[in-house]
Amino acid sequence: MAGRIAIAVACLLCLALVAWGVWPTDRDEPSDATTSVAASPVSNRPIVVPADGYVGSSSCRECHEREYDTWHASYHRSMTQLPTPEAVVGDFEGTEIQIHDLKYAFYRDGDEFRVKIYDVNKPDEPPDDKPIVLTTGSHHFQAYWLPSGKTRVLDVFPALYRIDDGRWMPLAAQFLHPPDFDHAFFARSGAWNITCNRCHATHSRPRIQDGHHMDTQVSEFGISCEACHGPAGQHVQNMSAGVKEMAIVHPDKLSPIRSAQVCGSCHGTMDYKTQEDFEHWTEHGFAYRPGEDLFAHRSAVDSGERQYWADGMLRVSGREYNGLAASPCFDHADASQQMTCLSCHQMHPHGDDSRPLKEWANDQLKLTMDSNRPGPHNDQACTQCHQQYADEAALTAHTFHEAASTGSRCYNCHMPHTTWGVMKAMRSHTISSPHIEESLAPVGRGNACNLCHLDKTLGWAADQLHERYGHERPELQSDQENIAAALLWALSGDAGQRAVISWNMGWQPAREISGDAWMVPALAQLLEDPYPVVRSTAYRSLGKIAGFAQLEYDFVGDLPQRAAARQAARAIWESQQREPNPTTLLEQDGSLDQKTFDRLVGRRNNRDVFLEE
Ligand code: HEC
Ligand code: HEC
Ligand code: HEC
Ligand code: HEC
Ligand code: HEC
Ligand code: HEC
Ligand code: HEC
Ligand code: HEC
Repeated sequence: MAGRIAIAVACLLCLALVAWGVWPTDRDEPSDATTSVAASPVSNRPIVVPADGYVGSSSCRECHEREYDTWHASYHRSMTQLPTPEAVVGDFEGTEIQIHDLKYAFYRDGDEFRVKIYDVNKPDEPPDDKPIVLTTGSHHFQAYWLPSGKTRVLDVFPALYRIDDGRWMPLAAQFLHPPDFDHAFFARSGAWNITCNRCHATHSRPRIQDGHHMDTQVSEFGISCEACHGPAGQHVQNMSAGVKEMAIVHPDKLSPIRSAQVCGSCHGTMDYKTQEDFEHWTEHGFAYRPGEDLFAHRSAVDSGERQYWADGMLRVSGREYNGLAASPCFDHADASQQMTCLSCHQMHPHGDDSRPLKEWANDQLKLTMDSNRPGPHNDQACTQCHQQYADEAALTAHTFHEAASTGSRCYNCHMPHTTWGVMKAMRSHTISSPHIEESLAPVGRGNACNLCHLDKTLGWAADQLHERYGHERPELQSDQENIAAALLWALSGDAGQRAVISWNMGWQPAREISGDAWMVPALAQLLEDPYPVVRSTAYRSLGKIAGFAQLEYDFVGDLPQRAAARQAARAIWESQQREPNPTTLLEQDGSLDQKTFDRLVGRRNNRDVFLEE
């Protein structure tokens, strides 16, 4: 979140570290008697204690079956779970992973999930043997938490399970960070209690006891009804007693901005407004309630190269509020014209929606707001307000592409995949129009035309934008005129650019119009990239090209293995036939212009990039 595992919000975590004093290290272990565990016999992890008018989802079910069922199918519900056999997706059947000097052996003991931790330098010592006490995530990854031995403070488990690949991987490999970055940063004790649970549970209270202990409580694990509807105790009481007053928040009935803030309380990059706000959070949970003004107690974080491109556009996932708020569609005098998350997303699909709930749950879009569906429907996300483009002639006059073309989908030009998180590129939630300037230094973000027309140069896009939209044609460097922009980003770009372009090289619409055989040398090169996320993404994109699905490779494997995979990919490629094309560095006989290729690789921008998802 993506960085999230670690530190979705490093600034907040740092603030927390300062406020909490020295990180727990060498103090006496507490006895159970010193902690308030009256509500539960469990003493080694955070517990569920509904408070402050929050009553929990089970009390809604009998009256709101449809909303309950749709929520139950969402990844919101399963974001934080106790490690039951239904919840745990990781492979605990005798699997192992080694990270630095520690080897972790996963096993199951009845319904308990456990791990033995061996120090490989001390083969004679018995392993540490610990239970998993909490899980995070159920969509892309599942992360695990161990008891720290200090009250309810949790330690993060340094490996996570990648669900689509069905494999364990080091936690640190999920994030886009310099390869020599101190991995201990991702494994600090107490991060769940004070940081992650802000957005991964409902009405959480870290409850710091002293410099080393926390008696953390939540009203419900996961993102439950009341995270979006506010505390519902009064509502349940009223409805049960036949009292008419609703006493509950309905996001659709709020103003568009207040509605977006309900989501923004988690899908946003925010700081506490004052030290008092921070202390209120650690002791009583957030003062903010859905429906209120989010910025009474928080301030938006609007800049910083770990989250924003140099022109101020958000570049990390999970922070969609800040992205959307920067869109021209967001803040408008006429409230009926204001965009909100619910312009496109829907938290409870209706009965007439025939999609399986699992399909909806991926992105939780309204039926006609899915960008991947061909045909006119998927443009409703934009034409619900920009009605002038609902007409086919007006559409093609605006896009210069056939109406049914992927080049006529509003999303593809105005919300391209330039945001990074959970090991993939995703659509920017700042609505913008393609311009060449955004692709030049110091910003260097792929423009929508070149992110689909991957085999074309920046010069080509600049000419087209000039002819079609009257944009001024800037002067470009000779490589920018002569070599496909995608190759420049993949070979000479910084790690952030390499990650985004390697994802877009696997994007189906782009591969259809640009061809993909020419990408192989570049993607093979990226199998040896210093950044694990770049290697992983390149491998996935490579696997979509005919002939490469079976290539063996482990993106966290050792250097010789990576080099061998690159050579194997090149060998397969050399045996295939290709058309010449100077912009993609293919010579008359279809072979690679290795000299220019090597020159571009030699110019790789090695600056440190760290993205805080
Ligand atoms: C500011 C709110 C916020 C904080 C704090 C936060 N996250 Fe998240 N997290 C999110 C959001 C929003 C997503 C969904 C992102 C998406 O799908 O693009 C997410 C997604 C994730 C995922 C992927 C879940 C899945 O099912 O694939 C993991 C794992 C994760 N976060 C771990 C963490 C950890 C660990 C921490 C604490 C160190 C943390 N996050 C802190 C908001 C947050
Ligand atoms: C005893 C029955 C009952 C229970 C329990 C109950 N509700 Fe309701 N709720 C109603 C009725 C009746 C309405 C009004 C009709 C409707 O919208 O279905 C309503 C309406 C709502 C609305 C829409 C409010 C509006 O302004 O339109 C929300 C949101 C809501 N409930 C949430 C919840 C949540 C969350 C819970 C559990 C914490 C819950 N309800 C528990 C009966 C109940
Ligand atoms: C992530 C936020 C979120 C969660 C979690 C959530 N809701 Fe909602 N709920 C919404 C939004 C937004 C709407 C507005 C309509 C929509 O998007 O489907 C809504 C609408 C409703 C309505 C009104 C439906 C109508 O037709 O007017 C009810 C009732 C409701 N939710 C109950 C619940 C219950 C009960 C739960 C938990 C079992 C729950 N919600 C969980 C965000 C949420
Ligand atoms: C209490 C914090 C919280 C609130 C409030 C919240 N979300 Fe989320 N949301 C998350 C987290 C954490 C995830 C990651 C869950 C996962 O993917 O496993 C997430 C995931 C999502 C996803 C991606 C689902 C997927 O995995 O594909 C969408 C879309 C989304 N939220 C939209 C919304 C909208 C719209 C609202 C407001 C109506 C909202 N959320 C309110 C925390 C929250
Ligand atoms: C104009 C339509 C639109 C609006 C408005 C919008 N979204 Fe999205 N959102 C999308 C689309 C389309 C996707 C799928 C993106 C993709 O496939 O990469 C998406 C995906 C997401 C995801 C999942 C990202 C992932 O791939 O893991 C989250 C989380 C999310 N949106 C949250 C929000 C929140 C929160 C808001 C309001 C602040 C919002 N969105 C407003 C269209 C929209
Ligand atoms: C809820 C209504 C709403 C939705 C949905 C919406 N917009 Fe907008 N959009 C607006 C408003 C209002 C403006 C400001 C118009 C103005 O100031 O004249 C605007 C402005 C814009 C602008 C800038 C116009 C300019 O002159 O600079 C672009 C580009 C744009 N929208 C594209 C889109 C795209 C693409 C989508 C779908 C992904 C979309 N909009 C969805 C309401 C919306
Ligand atoms: C092939 C790419 C492309 C597609 C597809 C596209 N646009 Fe645009 N759009 C642009 C460009 C480029 C501009 C900037 C024009 C300028 O700078 O004057 C633009 C400008 C706009 C504007 C602001 C100026 C105006 O015309 O009012 C709006 C609103 C807009 N687009 C909406 C949409 C909507 C709605 C859709 C889908 C129905 C869409 N666009 C599809 C490329 C595209
Ligand atoms: C999501 C993919 C996509 C995006 C984004 C896109 N195009 Fe296209 N483009 C296509 C497809 C597919 C065709 C084939 C003809 C058609 O479908 O209309 C095409 C054809 C073209 C052509 C004519 C054929 C050629 O190769 O010379 C030009 C010129 C062009 N696009 C320019 C642009 C410009 C300029 C932009 C950005 C404003 C853009 N395209 C954005 C997919 C895209």
